[in-house]
Amino acid sequence: MRTLYELLKPILFRLDAEKAHYLMMGLLQNMADIPPAHDLMGKIWAGGNDGLSKTVFGLTFKNPIGLAAGFDKDARFIRELALLGFGFIEIGTLTPRPQAGNQKPRLFRLPQDRALINRMGFNNEGVDAAVSRLQRLVRPEGLIIGGNIGKNKDTPNDRAVEDYLICLKKLRPWVDYFVVNVSSPNTPGLRELQDKEPLRRLLLTLQDENQKGVHSRPILLKIAPDLEQGQLNDIVDIAAEASLAGLVATNTTIERQPLVSQPSEWQALGAGGLSGAPLRERSNDILGYLSRHCPSSLPLIGVGGIDSPESARERLTSGASLIQIYSGLIFAGPKLVKSIKADLSLRPITD
Ligand SMILES: Cc1cc2nc3c(=O)[nH]c(=O)nc-3n(C[C@H](O)[C@H](O)[C@H](O)COP(=O)(O)O)c2cc1C
Repeated sequence: MRTLYELLKPILFRLDAEKAHYLMMGLLQNMADIPPAHDLMGKIWAGGNDGLSKTVFGLTFKNPIGLAAGFDKDARFIRELALLGFGFIEIGTLTPRPQAGNQKPRLFRLPQDRALINRMGFNNEGVDAAVSRLQRLVRPEGLIIGGNIGKNKDTPNDRAVEDYLICLKKLRPWVDYFVVNVSSPNTPGLRELQDKEPLRRLLLTLQDENQKGVHSRPILLKIAPDLEQGQLNDIVDIAAEASLAGLVATNTTIERQPLVSQPSEWQALGAGGLSGAPLRERSNDILGYLSRHCPSSLPLIGVGGIDSPESARERLTSGASLIQIYSGLIFAGPKLVKSIKADLSLRPITD
């Protein structure tokens, strides 16, 4: 029998992708407002967590599957998304001041490739709006919340560290870990912060501030899949020097290979980061490389092209302690997390 999502998908896929996203989230929110529907949704989608709990960078995750950054940038839908069974949800990327992001349309599907192209440009309501939502949130049981932080578009790179510091200080009491995002392709010049010296300065300053506070939090770095081996090696060194808690690999790619969709189709969509199935191999390779070159004490979060129990297992076997999903949810639907969890419970991965 077809699921509700399978019935809705052809209609949703005819709509603009960003509109469809908010339509679905609004629908989920309305359903979750009705207590019996809320409970039923949890029963249908969430699945159990038997044998899946693990402690990573000092936090206990009820299962290793998380929602990747960008899906709920403003912490608006945590209660609803928790019903899908995630062990953790990463909000953001948040910037100090609200910003509109790039002109719409800015999110596109390539259904044949099970891929998305986006050039959102860190659209978000700003860190203060997210903090006030987090203050009011009744946290779903056992859910870990991460805060992904960035800089405003009009902040020059030589002052970027100030933006990251603002986000860190404001969010610190309300999130369990941080991800420093220097890898989005949609904020001009942002990826230059991945270069050795700017990255060192940024991470050392953030860690210094982090350790001063009462609520010191694990800080992770999210990297692009388009880095050369030399850059990856620099990142491994800097991660140790700045006492990072882990690395998140990867963000979207600016590459357009391998795609089965016609070049005329994707070329017409313009610039942006590619995510989903075509990113799977590249993200997995980067994760494998990091796993071989990082000390085993540095946990890795694998993200990019995970859309099935098999691709989840592949990433965990390549060395990820935790995994995250974005595009897979759009193509596989809300039962994806449950199916991955069922597979992992049935055939646990031994380290
Ligand atoms: C529409 C969209 C918006 C995104 N926004 C962010 C963001 O704000 N911050 C971030 O670190 N990653 C962002 N990402 C990247 C995802 O978190 C993830 O790293 C990437 O999509 C690869 O995973 P996937 O193949 O499962 O989608 C975004 C991705 C998409 C598709």
